[in-house]
Amino acid sequence: MYEIVAKEALAPVTTRLLVRAPEIAAKARAGQFVILIVDEHGERIPLTLADWYPDEGLIDIIFQQVGKTTMHLATLGPGDALYALTGPLGRPTEVRNYGTVVCVGGGVGIAAIYPIARALRQAGNRVISIIGCRTRELMFWEERMAELSDEPFVCTDDGSYKRKALVTEPLAEVLERGGIDRVWAVGPAIMMKFCSLTAMRYGVPIVVSLNSIMVDGTGMCGACRVEVAGQTRFACVDGPEFDGSQVNWDLLIQRQRLYLDKERLALERFQQKEQCRCQATLGGATNAAR
Ligand SMILES: Cc1cc2nc3c(=O)[nH]c(=O)nc-3n(C[C@H](O)[C@H](O)[C@H](O)COP(=O)(O)OP(=O)(O)OC[C@H]3O[C@@H](n4cnc5c(N)ncnc54)[C@H](O)[C@@H]3O)c2cc1C
Ligand code: FES
Repeated sequence: MYEIVAKEALAPVTTRLLVRAPEIAAKARAGQFVILIVDEHGERIPLTLADWYPDEGLIDIIFQQVGKTTMHLATLGPGDALYALTGPLGRPTEVRNYGTVVCVGGGVGIAAIYPIARALRQAGNRVISIIGCRTRELMFWEERMAELSDEPFVCTDDGSYKRKALVTEPLAEVLERGGIDRVWAVGPAIMMKFCSLTAMRYGVPIVVSLNSIMVDGTGMCGACRVEVAGQTRFACVDGPEFDGSQVNWDLLIQRQRLYLDKERLALERFQQKEQCRCQATLGGATNAAR
């Protein structure tokens, strides 16, 4: 069991959990992820290592509540424990001194781009960061990103905070100026696709982190199959980072939707169960008050 030490609501649907996992904290590197199971009946879900503290034996995971398991995870807090946790998984980011790099994070992808940007900065790169969310209330870790950036950009799709733009707009402007050696982009598949197309237009290499559906995370089940440069690759062991200019984005997006019906059903069942549990608790409280 992996104890949850702290919990923080970063946005209405985004939660940070600090989890005791000394072995993972000791080995974690930028770009890697964990697979966790919430309870003994739970499914396995992959989440990026957003940060880690080897001396304290702690790791940070940040997740958006999008379905059954992430909503279940959000009900846990300090004193609770995760049933299972495996990691660090995946190939770490190839950190080198490239020169000037652009790190783009979209939505919850900000959690994943943060350790990558930090490692690239520590390796001597000049880091330009671009973070974007749909709206103001979804923004988080802006200060953390600004601290490690030589030039930070912040935008929202609806203009409710800082610049009204999709992340591809400042990305294109920065690339237009020239002198960029490499781009990293992490976020929704559609965002990474358009960042890749933008970087390709300027002939600049781009690395993306693919969020395909995963089960075992060890290259055995094939669930995370993606197509890169016309070849089948497994995102969990060959990635999750790949050359964005070579990814078959349409296949990735199509495969992400494979289990939509089942995911919807699982969420409905979970919500019904939670409602029953709340009613039972409220009923108990009312009876006790009488
Ligand atoms: C390497 C990797 C790192 C990730 N890191 C993060 C992170 O740091 N924070 C975060 O919020 N999310 C992250 N994700 C996505 C996260 O795993 C899914 O949001 C989560 O599994 C959804 O589970 P659910 O039961 O709550 O929702 P579901 O109802 O299962 O699905 C809701 C949506 O999430 C997608 N999804 C479902 N299962 C997976 C899966 N196993 N992998 C990817 N997408 C899935 C579905 O296509 C669907 O659109 C990461 C995914 C990968 C592959
Ligand atoms: S998750 Fe099973 S092969 Fe990658």
